[in-house]
Amino acid sequence: MLKIENLDFSYGEIKVLKDINLEIKKGEIVALIGANGAGKTTLLKVLSSLQNQQYGRIFFGGKDISKSNSMQRVKIGIAQVPEGRGLFNILNIEDNLLMGAYLRKDKKIKSDLEYIYKLFPVLREKRKQYAGTLSGGQQQMLSIGRALMSSPNLLLLDEPSMGLAPIIVEDIFEVLQELRKKGTTIFLIEQNAYLALSTSDRAYVLENGKIVMSGKSCDLIDDDRIKEAYLGI
Ligand SMILES: Nc1ncnc2c1ncn2[C@@H]1O[C@H](COP(=O)(O)OP(=O)(O)OP(=O)(O)O)[C@@H](O)[C@H]1O
Ligand SMILES: [Mg+2]
Repeated sequence: MLKIENLDFSYGEIKVLKDINLEIKKGEIVALIGANGAGKTTLLKVLSSLQNQQYGRIFFGGKDISKSNSMQRVKIGIAQVPEGRGLFNILNIEDNLLMGAYLRKDKKIKSDLEYIYKLFPVLREKRKQYAGTLSGGQQQMLSIGRALMSSPNLLLLDEPSMGLAPIIVEDIFEVLQELRKKGTTIFLIEQNAYLALSTSDRAYVLENGKIVMSGKSCDLIDDDRIKEAYLGI
């Protein structure tokens, strides 16, 4: 579904992504783990074209999309749940969700809204409440819901567990499994390596802008280097 080839990215003189090669197959949950500053968010931004990519190529469904802009990427089915949620604070929940569908013209918007309210009942309960007044967990749910309203083929998530209580994190990760069952492909960025590896099929490890390891998540979780560097075991 998604293939990244020899991708480099710099902020000015500073090289942040170095020769990234990565693949995500349809229906997979693929995780990217790495420490603060490794370049995880930058990679997601390049994927959704919020940062222009400088070298390398990105393919989506076999098509070279390296030169397409962020709106075109949403149209072909790439949706991002950004770090820090990126909600419209002065809009209520329902309007935030509908904003997620702004590029769609099909008739399924209403039923997708229903589906999201089923996934996250608290959003239905508070649908007239301003996004800015929600708790952190509710905001994360709304951010995921809004991305889903674009009816994505590939969902990009930047640290969905960040700052949330374990019980909320559990709820959110259950929803991710639910989405996978429905056929949504997920690229999950997480600093919580245990959570990421126990949720995903495969994973990549990013260190200083370079992919230093990759493999099946169930193997990585037992790897001594991963245990020492990322799991604190
Ligand atoms: N707009 C920017 N201009 C210049 N440098 C930047 C910019 N955004 C990020 N960086 C730098 O790029 C590097 C990678 O940042 P990035 O946000 O991608 O890391 P991250 O892996 O997402 O970290 P975290 O886990 O803390 O979210 C960091 O050294 C950061 O300081
Ligand atoms: Mg980040």
